[in-house]
Amino acid sequence: MRLTIIGTGYVGLVAAVCFAKLGHLVTAVDREPIIQDLRAHKLAIWEPNLQEMLETCLHEDRLSFDTDVVHAAKDADALMIAVGTPTGENGRSDLSQVDNVISQLKLADVICPPFIIMKSTVPVGTCDELEADLHAAGLHTEIVFNPEFLRQGSAINDFMNPDRIVIGCRSHLAKAALQQLYRGIPAPIQVCDRRSAELIKYASNAFLAMKISFANMIADLCEGYGADNRQVMQGVGADRRIGSHFLQAGIGYGGSCFSKDLQSLLSSGKAIGRTLPLLEATAQINEERIPQLVEKLISLWGNPRGKRLAVLGISFKPHTNDMRDAPFLTLLRLCYLYGIEVQTYDPVVQLNTFDNVSQMETAYEAAAGAHAMIIMTEWPQFAELDWVSMVGGMSQPILLDGRNVLSDEVVSRLMAVDNVIYIPVGRPMKQAALTLERDISTLLQSYGT
Ligand SMILES: NC(=O)c1ccc[n+]([C@@H]2O[C@H](COP(=O)([O-])OP(=O)(O)OC[C@H]3O[C@@H](n4cnc5c(N)ncnc54)[C@H](O)[C@@H]3O)[C@@H](O)[C@H]2O)c1
Repeated sequence: MRLTIIGTGYVGLVAAVCFAKLGHLVTAVDREPIIQDLRAHKLAIWEPNLQEMLETCLHEDRLSFDTDVVHAAKDADALMIAVGTPTGENGRSDLSQVDNVISQLKLADVICPPFIIMKSTVPVGTCDELEADLHAAGLHTEIVFNPEFLRQGSAINDFMNPDRIVIGCRSHLAKAALQQLYRGIPAPIQVCDRRSAELIKYASNAFLAMKISFANMIADLCEGYGADNRQVMQGVGADRRIGSHFLQAGIGYGGSCFSKDLQSLLSSGKAIGRTLPLLEATAQINEERIPQLVEKLISLWGNPRGKRLAVLGISFKPHTNDMRDAPFLTLLRLCYLYGIEVQTYDPVVQLNTFDNVSQMETAYEAAAGAHAMIIMTEWPQFAELDWVSMVGGMSQPILLDGRNVLSDEVVSRLMAVDNVIYIPVGRPMKQAALTLERDISTLLQSYGT
């Protein structure tokens, strides 16, 4: 198939290289500077295998770029829209990027491809409205809603091996076209009406966010009662009706999708007079995570002004450089408010200049001289650091493990270092004794006391 994809962000570019890999001829469209970079093989996005896949597709002439929506749409068998749908006024989805694409098609006297595939996440009813709009303008095309479920950090793998493919369409022709597009991807295909497909995407994200907030709510109880959240969630998740994914307690969810999709769903509910209390609670629990962590720090420090906080990992999750809605940004705002200086280390993110942030080349440099450290992102290499050296370089060895990254073995090694305070999530904190206390206790043991 000849496929044109509008938008080369996380979804559009990943879809472009994956459909090209599946054998389709793909034209990807975006704004001039972005396309210039892509033509020079420069990616703004850091995703495992994306660079290599891009180079292969370009080398094999399966992928090309354009900056003109109408020109790229002209000869396509299908046009896919993968532009952003960020949060707009009152939590509603801001559909201006989608509207802009549709307007360009309407204004130009173009022979529109028979199918427009909506990949962007849009509120229920949007595809019906857009299609009616196109028909009124004389463009007889069918809009198919085909949600994307990839996770950043494993986007290529998720795209090529999804749990399901959802096709929300009106006609058999559209269904057949989408089946052809996805031929080669071994996943069950669910064909349904467009409104249900639109809601499947929002409900899926809302449910995942709810699981995370649930785990965090139970983690607070674990801390209060001295239970171990990891054990609790292992026991809970072993029930196949519940499942073990997304039950890890931590600093809460971030990223470009969960918060915005939750807000959009809440506003869709409001528009028809429905409150969605589960979702309100989900968002509220999430918003409290970072302030709670900062409170823990302040209760240990006393006066936070002038303290230095080391932060390991600043993107919203590992294996990506995406900073959209990263919990780190909330932490940074609070640090700014309390006069806390921040020194960070991240394996891939390069921050622009922020007033109270110094970005370091290594995790050890970030730890040096800090009055506390927080692990914000579970990059696998963080677990491999020499943690005894890390805390040895700190001015005050307080370690907040926001993702429960450190193993019990590493933590017990840290407990042999004077004064170390280890604060995990959903488990009681641990404090190392001073050398003198340890010596006395060993001495008493040797006397059999
Ligand atoms: N990021 C994810 O993990 C993810 C997962 C599933 C679904 N989604 C949904 O997919 C959609 C896209 O998300 P994203 O993260 O890829 O967005 P993004 O902001 O990273 O990318 C959008 C791209 O579209 C381009 N664009 C906007 N208007 C354009 C126009 N008129 N012509 C050409 N290009 C245009 C922008 O320049 C940008 O590069 C959103 O609706 C999002 O909710 C995202």
